[in-house]
Amino acid sequence: MGKDKLKRFEENKSFRCLYQPEFEEVFRTDYKIKGLWHKEHFANQRDIVLELGCGRGEYTIALARKYPHKSFIGVDIKGARLWRGAKTATDEQMDNAAFVRCRIEFIESVFARDEVSEIWITFPDPQIKRDNKRLTSAGFLQRYRTFLKDGGVVHLKTDSPFLYNYTLELVKQNNLELLEANEDIYGSGRADELLSVKTRYESQFLSMGMKITYLSFCLRRDGALKEPVWDSEQFER
Ligand SMILES: C[S@@+](CC[C@H](N)C(=O)[O-])C[C@H]1O[C@@H](n2cnc3c(N)ncnc32)[C@H](O)[C@@H]1O
Repeated sequence: MGKDKLKRFEENKSFRCLYQPEFEEVFRTDYKIKGLWHKEHFANQRDIVLELGCGRGEYTIALARKYPHKSFIGVDIKGARLWRGAKTATDEQMDNAAFVRCRIEFIESVFARDEVSEIWITFPDPQIKRDNKRLTSAGFLQRYRTFLKDGGVVHLKTDSPFLYNYTLELVKQNNLELLEANEDIYGSGRADELLSVKTRYESQFLSMGMKITYLSFCLRRDGALKEPVWDSEQFER
């Protein structure tokens, strides 16, 4: 492992805004902060918004700066990436941004029922061959329902036509309320102050001339969720 990475891992231990549960602390058990984010971490009752697969936490940090009346938590498994977001939040003394180093597969161990108001999923790997790893699959949405407020909004930003169309079909076939679906946020002039925040991956995809898509929907708590039946082949490339 490189020296820089080791230094970051060491520094990560000092950040109050960064939680790094051990496997045993989230595997089939509740992590110590679950249900206590408002009271013990943020010390207020403001809405909590998650960014899943946040990488360096660009969205979490940008949203936290723009919306001081809300709290933001970025989740990712990569400690060296999370370091960037946690360091910025610490250096700028931001009291409304936090990070969790954890596999999203264990996210139900970290957040309690109704603890979260909104979810952003920014440029996840589309996982074309493995729908059980896809962050907008029915299985993952089922996990999110355990802590997202009933009808809470899920936002997806992606460069992947496969993931965009898959998620759109899943929303439609499960009769979820679609709020917005845009196949080219920059080309259509839709990228406002909120949507034009650019993550590391987004900047790379834009420089390659790729279109950035966005969709948002409300995730209600009741009813079964099923995988969509759709013609995926035209998007598998
Ligand atoms: C393609 S990167 C995008 C990072 C960032 N959102 C961006 O746009 O720059 C996907 C991120 O999701 C994280 N990730 C993927 N699957 C995950 C999982 N199951 N649990 C936690 N993090 C995951 C990866 O570590 C990686 O940082």
